[in-house]
Amino acid sequence: MFSTAFLLSAGLLLASLPSVANASLSSHFHRDAPWNNRLAKRTYYPAPATDYYTIKTPTNVTIRYKTPGEDGVCETTPGVGSYSGYVDLSEDVHIFFWFFESRRDPARDDFTLWLNGGPGSDSLIGLFEELGPCRINENLTTVINPYSWNNVSNMLFLSQPVGVSFSYQAITNGSLGNSTGGFLNSSQADQTGTWSTLVPDNEGEIDTTDLAAIAAWEALQGFLEALPQLHANRAWQPRKFNLWTESYGGHYGPAFFDYFYKQNEKIQNGSMPGYAMEFNSLGLINAIISETVQAEHYPEFAVNNTYGIKAYNDTVYSYAKFATHMVGGCLSQIQSCIRAAQDIKGGYVKGKITPVATGFQAIAAVCAEAANMCRDNVESMYYNYGDRGTYDIRHPSNDPTPPSYYEDYLNQAHIQKALGVSVNYTGSNSDIYYLFQQTGDFIYPNFIQDLQDIIASGVRVALAYGDADYICNWFGGQAVSLALNHTHKAEFLAAGYEPMLYNGTEYGETRERGNLSFTRIYESGHEVPYYQPQAALAHFQRVIEGLDIPEGKERVTANLTSNGPLNATHTNAYVSLPPTESSKLASWSSSIVASYDALDVLPPPTETPTPA
Ligand SMILES: *[C@@H]1O[C@H](CO)[C@@H](O)[C@H](O)[C@H]1NC(C)=O
Ligand SMILES: *[C@@H]1O[C@H](CO)[C@@H](O)[C@H](O)[C@H]1NC(C)=O
Ligand SMILES: *[C@@H]1O[C@H](CO)[C@@H](O)[C@H](O)[C@H]1NC(C)=O
Ligand SMILES: *[C@@H]1O[C@H](CO)[C@@H](O)[C@H](O)[C@H]1NC(C)=O
Ligand SMILES: *[C@@H]1O[C@H](CO)[C@@H](O)[C@H](O)[C@H]1NC(C)=O
Ligand SMILES: *[C@@H]1O[C@H](CO)[C@@H](O)[C@H](O)[C@H]1NC(C)=O
Ligand SMILES: *[C@@H]1O[C@H](CO)[C@@H](O)[C@H](O)[C@H]1NC(C)=O
Ligand SMILES: *[C@@H]1O[C@H](CO)[C@@H](O)[C@H](O)[C@H]1NC(C)=O
Ligand SMILES: *[C@@H]1O[C@H](CO)[C@@H](O)[C@H](O)[C@H]1NC(C)=O
Ligand SMILES: *[C@@H]1O[C@H](CO)[C@@H](O)[C@H](O)[C@H]1NC(C)=O
Ligand SMILES: *[C@@H]1O[C@H](CO)[C@@H](O)[C@H](O)[C@H]1NC(C)=O
Ligand SMILES: *[C@@H]1O[C@H](CO)[C@@H](O)[C@H](O)[C@H]1NC(C)=O
Repeated sequence: MFSTAFLLSAGLLLASLPSVANASLSSHFHRDAPWNNRLAKRTYYPAPATDYYTIKTPTNVTIRYKTPGEDGVCETTPGVGSYSGYVDLSEDVHIFFWFFESRRDPARDDFTLWLNGGPGSDSLIGLFEELGPCRINENLTTVINPYSWNNVSNMLFLSQPVGVSFSYQAITNGSLGNSTGGFLNSSQADQTGTWSTLVPDNEGEIDTTDLAAIAAWEALQGFLEALPQLHANRAWQPRKFNLWTESYGGHYGPAFFDYFYKQNEKIQNGSMPGYAMEFNSLGLINAIISETVQAEHYPEFAVNNTYGIKAYNDTVYSYAKFATHMVGGCLSQIQSCIRAAQDIKGGYVKGKITPVATGFQAIAAVCAEAANMCRDNVESMYYNYGDRGTYDIRHPSNDPTPPSYYEDYLNQAHIQKALGVSVNYTGSNSDIYYLFQQTGDFIYPNFIQDLQDIIASGVRVALAYGDADYICNWFGGQAVSLALNHTHKAEFLAAGYEPMLYNGTEYGETRERGNLSFTRIYESGHEVPYYQPQAALAHFQRVIEGLDIPEGKERVTANLTSNGPLNATHTNAYVSLPPTESSKLASWSSSIVASYDALDVLPPPTETPTPA
């Protein structure tokens, strides 16, 4: 299983990463490392996928796809199309996608790309655990999610960068290392399945967010050009584009959107062929955007949060705080990384570290060291000395939420066949995580700069943070919202927090001014749409439809301003940890999962729901 050290250094991998297995837990609620489950199983290899529909786009990209909904996989709402398969960008770059038509009006609704973070984590985490059309039960049956975001938008889930989940350069029999999670070939260890691997020698070339942006754009364009030809598809020519993402998506979102936006302009002005869209919104959920701004909020959140939880003592707090600010500490090493990039021509441009710098080994090493310093001495104190959840401070560190049954669901032959894949599933690719770690991408100053450009372009930018998450806590998210430089910064700072209401319930509080907003969502861990499906859908819908976030009643204008106190002062009830004794913990886990499952049930049809 993963050692503690790995889990901690890999803290940004999404919640589907298993907690360190606790031997006293019953196997039932034991969030076992998936590769341990794999080893326990008899080894069966996925059969080669067959019977695809195939499309060749005008730019020579091949799309191979299937219609899993017709086989009862995931989206079974009558009349709602779903398509999964590959965008084949080259001989050795095959990007997995899963597209769902809107349940409302696919021809007129927006087109939204959803991405999870990692780096190396799969967007199907979001599909199954958060905002997609279905969720998976413990017995591997599916349930329709009535708060799916495809209720109001066409939704595309991409597994990226190549190597993540079903996306592949090569497909190889082998296993995943017990403690690193990295791929091992059959000469290195006994084979346990068929895995997506990077070439050559299992080393991909995508090791920064900015490089991932270029690759993701190619995949998105390939898909969009094929979209009108997907058979029986009703979302055939979407125009309005949204990018929503989470966690390491605080890097992906700003960088991808900024790059996509500029490419889109070239298509619009005719200097490049392609599928042009109208860029509508960028949504960032519990996102790590700027370590420079967010680092100091790790120790603050650990000891002085709105739940009245003190996760570690004053000695540890002082250490983490000192490590943030000391000479040679986290913030100072980030500056060393920036100075290193400035050493070479074109290494640091407009406040951003460029691929010219990151391709230079010595610079990458300085930046990687800065990222390690920050993680190991500031962020990780909570994991080392606390006993609460990485992604939810209300829960124990071996948090049973959200359950990740979907991984087992996707490792079944009949599901793989319906999706058109012939590779075993894993929600996070450790090799990609390590590649990004080696460049220090985590601490780059680039993403706040990208975000400023996007705000200046007039596109709507919405930040939303569940207030119980530690790893991308809302203190840090709020600090980013306040640090951003833009024309209406003063007005944004002066705007007050207004309650965010849905159906008469206050789910959070929002500061908004024109196209920028920051929303704190109460009683929610990292994966907000799992913990607060109603609030997450209402927030998404209001943003993409150009409505105010607190109530969804007013049209957004350049001067729309929220009213209220300058601080988000709502306090939450203290939550004690469950008993550690195994049977009691199992029953607590079971009831907490059931309580979240219950949120997905729509009110009886006799009630008149208040419009979002
Ligand atoms: C890989 O997929 C096959 C189905 O094709 C399944 O039987 C097997 O258990 C999976 N292996 C792992 C390690 O999940
Ligand atoms: C598309 O690829 C084929 C070979 O697969 C090649 O003959 C053709 O020239 C390519 N077309 C374009 C527009 O690149
Ligand atoms: C699977 O689990 C769900 C939820 O617990 C339950 O409603 C359903 O009846 C179960 N199905 C089977 C086949 O056991
Ligand atoms: C989402 O769409 C489904 C199917 O169209 C519908 O039954 C459900 O009520 C919708 N959910 C909400 C929250 O409106
Ligand atoms: C994996 O091994 C199985 C069993 O030997 C074989 O049938 C299959 O072709 C192999 N797959 C790959 C991708 O090499
Ligand atoms: C990995 O873990 C499994 C289950 O704990 C064990 O059976 C296997 O021997 C381990 N493999 C190695 C290479 O240590
Ligand atoms: C906790 O935060 C409050 C403001 O929210 C501040 O007044 C107080 O000094 C902080 N306490 C500590 C120990 O940092
Ligand atoms: C604080 O916690 C650390 C780690 O458990 C411990 O070593 C230290 O003695 C504690 N300090 C105080 C003042 O309790
Ligand atoms: C915003 O502008 C101020 C003043 O010029 C500058 O000190 C700060 O670094 C800028 N912040 C960002 C995130 O660019
Ligand atoms: C806000 O903008 C709208 C049009 O965008 C304008 O009609 C209105 O007068 C403005 N309000 C204020 C207070 O400036
Ligand atoms: C309260 O809001 C102000 C301005 O928005 C901010 O500078 C300050 O840090 C906030 N205080 C707390 C305790 O969050
Ligand atoms: C609206 O709130 C009422 C009262 O809390 C609740 O019974 C109902 O289920 C809610 N409706 C929706 C659509 O969330």
